[in-house]
Amino acid sequence: MEVIISADPESASSRAAKHIARLVRTKPEAVLGLATGSTPLLLYKELIRMHRNEGLDFSRVRTFNLDEYLGLAPSHPASYHQFMWKNFFDHININPARTHIPNGLLSGEDVTKFCASYEEEIRLAGGMDLQILGIGSDGHIGFNEPGSSLASRTRIKTLTRRTRSDNARFFRSENDVPHHVITMGIGTIMEAKEVLLLAFGESKATAVAGAVEGPITASNPASILQMHPAAKFHLDESAASRLEKHDYYRWVFEQKPPWQADA
Ligand code: GLP
Repeated sequence: MEVIISADPESASSRAAKHIARLVRTKPEAVLGLATGSTPLLLYKELIRMHRNEGLDFSRVRTFNLDEYLGLAPSHPASYHQFMWKNFFDHININPARTHIPNGLLSGEDVTKFCASYEEEIRLAGGMDLQILGIGSDGHIGFNEPGSSLASRTRIKTLTRRTRSDNARFFRSENDVPHHVITMGIGTIMEAKEVLLLAFGESKATAVAGAVEGPITASNPASILQMHPAAKFHLDESAASRLEKHDYYRWVFEQKPPWQADA
């Protein structure tokens, strides 16, 4: 696990974008796991800029989104479908047939069937080459709330009060935030060949410290990334502010040999 601390969200996002661009250039048919929320917005903006100004080609890239609210139509302004098209897909040359976002309009047995087929599609695509993650203020990744099995697969989850309140800003009121979601599982996420977790701001500092330096526990789902062979945490100074080994992570980054990526 590598912790990369940048001065601000812009430089952290730009580093993460360079990493993704390098992957897409070396493997044009790369499979990307995508995240939503405020955190990856600057990253998507930078990838859009690279597409426009540097010819970064997404035409053969395949994408799988982490999660979606149950009960929201793809046209709902707060759905993750809308988020992805508005903030990323509409601005790059992605083939819509190669994008995948969980269907928020299912219920009953159809949810279970859909989740199994989502897992199967990821498997048939060869698995995720790279998974982008944010982190909830309670340590959740995707919508795997504290207490989620560390081996979980794509399934329905119930949101905590805290997550519903954190995400209320995307809705008219907190009451409108759905209670249920479909999310890739922690086991699904862990099978990605690489993971880039981005976290910015003071509100993420406790969750980040627990994930990076605390015990591996379902109480902080992101802590499982300590077991991932190729996970990077891209943090700004505020999100890194509660890390005990803050200076060491900085020092490691500064000592990186020039031939290593992300230098
Ligand atoms: C949501 C998403 C997560 C995201 C988290 C943090 O719950 N399902 O994937 O990481 O929010 O969101 P933000 O980046 O807006 O702080």
